[in-house]
Amino acid sequence: MSTFNQDLEQIKNNFEQEFEKASSQTDFENLKNKYLGRKGSLAEVMKKIGSVPASERGAAGKLANEVKTSMTAKISQKSGGESGDGQGFFDLTEPGKAQKMGHPHPYTLVRDEVTDIFRSMGFEVLDGEEVTTDYYCFESLNIPKGHPARDAWDTFYIKQQRKKNEDLVLRTHTSSMQVAVMEEEEPPLRKVVIGRCFRNEATDASHEHSFNQIEGFVVDENISVANLVSTLKQFLQALFKAEMEVRLRPGFFPFVEPGYELDFKCLNCKGEGCKVCKHSGWVEFLGCGMIHPKVLNFAGYPKGKYTGYAFGMGFDRITMMKYKIDDIRLFNGGDLRFIHQF
Ligand code: DAH
Repeated sequence: MSTFNQDLEQIKNNFEQEFEKASSQTDFENLKNKYLGRKGSLAEVMKKIGSVPASERGAAGKLANEVKTSMTAKISQKSGGESGDGQGFFDLTEPGKAQKMGHPHPYTLVRDEVTDIFRSMGFEVLDGEEVTTDYYCFESLNIPKGHPARDAWDTFYIKQQRKKNEDLVLRTHTSSMQVAVMEEEEPPLRKVVIGRCFRNEATDASHEHSFNQIEGFVVDENISVANLVSTLKQFLQALFKAEMEVRLRPGFFPFVEPGYELDFKCLNCKGEGCKVCKHSGWVEFLGCGMIHPKVLNFAGYPKGKYTGYAFGMGFDRITMMKYKIDDIRLFNGGDLRFIHQF
């Protein structure tokens, strides 16, 4: 018998002895690697097949193959592999372990819905920079340094500067994207910015230091208040899936002129007066108006050529209204009993 065949015989015997002793999945896995692996005993002995006299080589190869096939069959039978019957190792009737599925946060659900609605009306939806400059957050929105209007936004200022003389802030509102976007693009513009904003607030059921806003703005020739109202009404109807009635009241925001507060008739009491609308029949919804000519000027647009409207709303509030949530702090509070309801 050639040494090749003797070696094969040896491997086969060793394998059989070890196979008898093996009992766990790990044992079978180790055996497979040791004997059948890329650097296993069988592969090693096969390297020597060239030294077998040519006349015996065919038979030697055949024998090696038989050894390999029988080892593979034995192992796969025990380890429940594709070709094995998995005796004692794979019980089809045993109940599986349930996988816990994740699910979207209520913010994500509402953000996706709002995004779809605005996209269907031809708006591009952006998120924009959370760290921005004093210029984009205030100055370019007609709120100069030292102006009392700044008091309306309790701002987190950042000590570091990206560039010399450029003060950085955490954006207090998504209006900070208005001029930043306008500088890059010529009208017609239809943009919606949805994202996180930050204010140095004392937190309570309706205030958080981090919250979310939706800002929308449109710039083109001949844009009017009528366009603003019809867009917002359509948006509200799509969001609440109901016929909506809206009204404008005068409101002051330095970056719009004229500026308004838009209310909608309370869905809860149909305008009769209830707790939700503080017995007024109307729910205050958002601030809006026609973009101030100074803002268009900061954007570098030719004087008098374009008009536009802008609106800004609390995204958290919409989510709270949609799901009847009464405390804003629940969103990021990490209480799974709350989160798993969505
Ligand atoms: N940025 C304002 C805020 O945070 C909201 C707002 C009011 C945005 C009027 C607008 C607007 O675009 O026209 O309070």
